[in-house]
Amino acid sequence: MRMVVLGLGYLGATHAACMAELGHEVLGIEIMPEKRAQLAAGQVPFYEPGLPDMLKRHIDSGRLTISGSYVEAAKFADVFFIAVGTPQKKGEYSADLQYVDAAIEELVPQLTRNALILGKSTVPVGTAERLTTRAQELAKDIDVEIAWNPEFLREGYAIADTLKPDRLVLGAYPGGRAETFCRQIYAATLAEGTPFIVADPPTAELVKTSANAFLATKISFINAIAEVCDAAGADVQAIAEAIGYDARIGRKFLNAGLGFGGGCLPKDIRAFMARAGELGAAEALSFLREVDNVNMRRRQRMVDITREVCGGTLLGKRIAILGAAFKPESDDVRDSPALNVAGQIQLQGASVAVYDPKAMENSRKVFPTLDYAGTVLDACDQADAVLVLTEWREFVDLDPLPVRDVVRCANVIDGRMCLDKNRWVSNGWNFVV
Ligand code: UGA
Repeated sequence: MRMVVLGLGYLGATHAACMAELGHEVLGIEIMPEKRAQLAAGQVPFYEPGLPDMLKRHIDSGRLTISGSYVEAAKFADVFFIAVGTPQKKGEYSADLQYVDAAIEELVPQLTRNALILGKSTVPVGTAERLTTRAQELAKDIDVEIAWNPEFLREGYAIADTLKPDRLVLGAYPGGRAETFCRQIYAATLAEGTPFIVADPPTAELVKTSANAFLATKISFINAIAEVCDAAGADVQAIAEAIGYDARIGRKFLNAGLGFGGGCLPKDIRAFMARAGELGAAEALSFLREVDNVNMRRRQRMVDITREVCGGTLLGKRIAILGAAFKPESDDVRDSPALNVAGQIQLQGASVAVYDPKAMENSRKVFPTLDYAGTVLDACDQADAVLVLTEWREFVDLDPLPVRDVVRCANVIDGRMCLDKNRWVSNGWNFVV
């Protein structure tokens, strides 16, 4: 099938490449010229394992082309995916839908044949309905159907999550062609037995926000238990393991530590609260405020622990921060807990050296005044404390001995509960979780 993907960020670039991988002919639309040029040359402007190879392969074969022209997009196909960003509004909790709105405003007036627009971006419930009304106003004697087909991919596993998703979800109005088209688009995935849930658009929109709200709640739940464990002298990791064996609970997303960040969970729970408020259902989601609070307290706690370990003040101390990405296998530093902690520690008078295997360039843009080291050992040189804040394999496997030789004080703080405590302690480290 021929199809267009509007917006080539994490979601759109992955979706476009994966649709080409499924055998479709894809035109990707990216309005930022720099990003477009990179992608057209087969380069991915962010770190996502496996994506550069796949993208390049399909650009070279001609199955995936890149453009900035909505006129070209309108001519190319009858199916359009919206994959643009929906960041948090500045100074507000709600989602900023300007890019989604712009895609409709730009595309629909160019259409000359009936079209199906499938939204993949995470949007507040009610967006598909609003866009349908607007598309009808903009359409010139044609039928434009809007349906929602939310995406559940995780950064770092984006290709696998797109090609072999846990489920496919479609929210469509009755009488349209969305389900028929989706069954063709995802024929290979459906043939493998992937569950396909077809509902109405508000339900599909809510499936996505509910999934992210649940994941955030699960993480904050275990972090709240971690707070109680700190007070009671209990072991939260053992609790996660023990309750995780209950199939109703499950072990995944029960890793206590520095909490969640990134471009999705934090802004999605806030947008969800804001939307529930607009709908008069604020009370139903009031617990998400606590989920957010527990999460933010983790960052504060990390700063407080570091100060304690350093003898009550961070003034004049040297702190090594290992990890800057919001999670491993990503170079994304949007709302990164690690960088947030690094920034706070610096504000309290310490000099902070950061090392991350992939996120150095992005970190520099956000926090130019931190020191950036080229290796773990450089970052740890003369450190009073070493903080592991993103659980990259490189840190999990780190040999504690050579690190001890370069630090000033052998204090390690395991912000992600990912290190082998015995190994560090037996190599002379004061180990703090
Ligand atoms: C998240 C969801 O997992 C995806 O399903 C969803 O499609 C995506 O948002 C989105 O809305 O686009 P992602 O942001 O890539 O994906 O990252 P996650 O793997 O969910 O991790 C989020 C944060 O939670 C990270 O900072 C991670 O370190 C933290 N986390 C995760 C924990 O603190 N503990 C855990 O047990 C798991």
